[in-house]
Amino acid sequence: MEYTSRTFTLPKIVGLSEKQLALHIGLYEGYVKHVNLLTSQMNKLAQTGEDFGYAIAELRRRLGFEWNGMRLHELYFEPLEGGPKPLHADTALYTHLKTQYGSFSQWLDIFAKVTARGPGWALLNYDPQAQRFFHTWVADHEIGQLATLPALIALDHWEHAYLIDYTPSEKAAYVTAYLEALNWDVIAKRFDAIG
Ligand SMILES: [Fe+2]
Repeated sequence: MEYTSRTFTLPKIVGLSEKQLALHIGLYEGYVKHVNLLTSQMNKLAQTGEDFGYAIAELRRRLGFEWNGMRLHELYFEPLEGGPKPLHADTALYTHLKTQYGSFSQWLDIFAKVTARGPGWALLNYDPQAQRFFHTWVADHEIGQLATLPALIALDHWEHAYLIDYTPSEKAAYVTAYLEALNWDVIAKRFDAIG
């Protein structure tokens, strides 16, 4: 089964231009295309009857980059739909963030500073077994992912995510713009779905 690019209905976002978002969605669509291309090529090589094990292994090595690139961008764009909505105090997510970090605003302050040099992602993960959150830095799209832990937020720190609107030294303003644009109803539902 092939993956299909999702369509995101995005409102006007303060601090993220339409041009910036259109470019970024185009890149996301490229990841979806390459996931399909990689899996198709692996299948074709496997069916030839000849030994293409080394070539298939190389393609498989690329899959983590492309597949995570696809899924992380979906996590990124989805909570921009519907426009900014606050996290309500009666949600399970609010309660759990408050328990671990003291308050929602204290958590937000910490998350906004999760950053590192180089391309990658800042994730808010949750471990339902230990009932605790993790802030994860994922280099590229795949290095540093915590196995099995769902991501509630995926904040793209690649320069392509902001370079039309901000210089690299203004990245903190991009992070603020993204966090202020979030529809927390979407993220609260993600948390509820973890169980
Ligand atoms: Fe991106």
